[in-house]
Amino acid sequence: MTVSPPRVYVSRPLPAAAMERLARHTDFEVWERQEVPPPREELLRRVARAEGLVCLLTERVDAELLDAAPRLRVVSQVAVGFDNIDVAAATARGVLVTNTPGVLTETTADCAWALLLAAARRIAEGDRYTRSGRWRSWELQLFLGRDVHGATLGIVGLGRIGAAVARRARGFDMRLLYYDPVRRPDLEAELGVEFADLERLLRESDFITIHTPLTPETTHLIGRRELALMKPTAILVNTSRGPVVDQAALADALRRGAIAGAGLDVFEAEPIPPDDPLLELDNAVLTPHIGSASVATRTRMATMAVENLVAALRGERPPNLVNPEAWPSRRGG
Ligand code: DGY
Repeated sequence: MTVSPPRVYVSRPLPAAAMERLARHTDFEVWERQEVPPPREELLRRVARAEGLVCLLTERVDAELLDAAPRLRVVSQVAVGFDNIDVAAATARGVLVTNTPGVLTETTADCAWALLLAAARRIAEGDRYTRSGRWRSWELQLFLGRDVHGATLGIVGLGRIGAAVARRARGFDMRLLYYDPVRRPDLEAELGVEFADLERLLRESDFITIHTPLTPETTHLIGRRELALMKPTAILVNTSRGPVVDQAALADALRRGAIAGAGLDVFEAEPIPPDDPLLELDNAVLTPHIGSASVATRTRMATMAVENLVAALRGERPPNLVNPEAWPSRRGG
């Protein structure tokens, strides 16, 4: 008797290695457009018969979707963050949720540093100026920025990515502070980072970089009050999730010169709306949520997501299970 392979819906084309693996183990359908996610109706229609879903952080996986997918056994997210997924609703229905931790740590830390350096040394502004034809001569006061070496770096969230950012700071001879609800004496010793409560970190840091997941507790963790505590020379970097920062308050602080600059890879709404005030500000360096976007890392993330999916569909415990409490009661298991 031949058993037909499990049906899977994939919400975006994945790198070839991941697609090949999917083809070997599943009967999959894929939303073919890379640049836009499937419309909600399409997604709900496609998951109706699926046992597995491979999705990105653009797909809202909530009770409505889970109810529209009675055969679904696993949601495999191609990202480490999974705030787009209602994990409790999945668990309640015995649906496994997986993510891709670890493989994107170093690449995202590189991106945080790229934004920090770009904002500190006004690289994006300088690039626009150089192209504009307005450059007349070497000027003593042209695009003066902030020194990174020897400055104080405040890391909000000392998880994998926060720690990788701290490691890179060694080469810049920086003083390192961190704030995290969980004290990390092991990393304090290893990395030479000093614990500070959020208020002290904000007051004393020249650069502040955010590496927290998005939860109800971290939503608007950096708001008007926190921005007011920062030095007027400070630069804020965010490569985690947009809603951790109150974006309107940040734009206002940048416009008034209450802080010196920002490097942002994530936004409260993505893509950022064309009338967002941040787009008018020269002291903000903005990138389109590309923290983990290197060829090697995105390939690893996709492959890992497919491995998680295939394991779950075979009835094996997937390596990166977000909701282990769903394991004993999983659907179809
Ligand atoms: C994640 O993995 O959560 C990032 O935001 C995308 O790499």
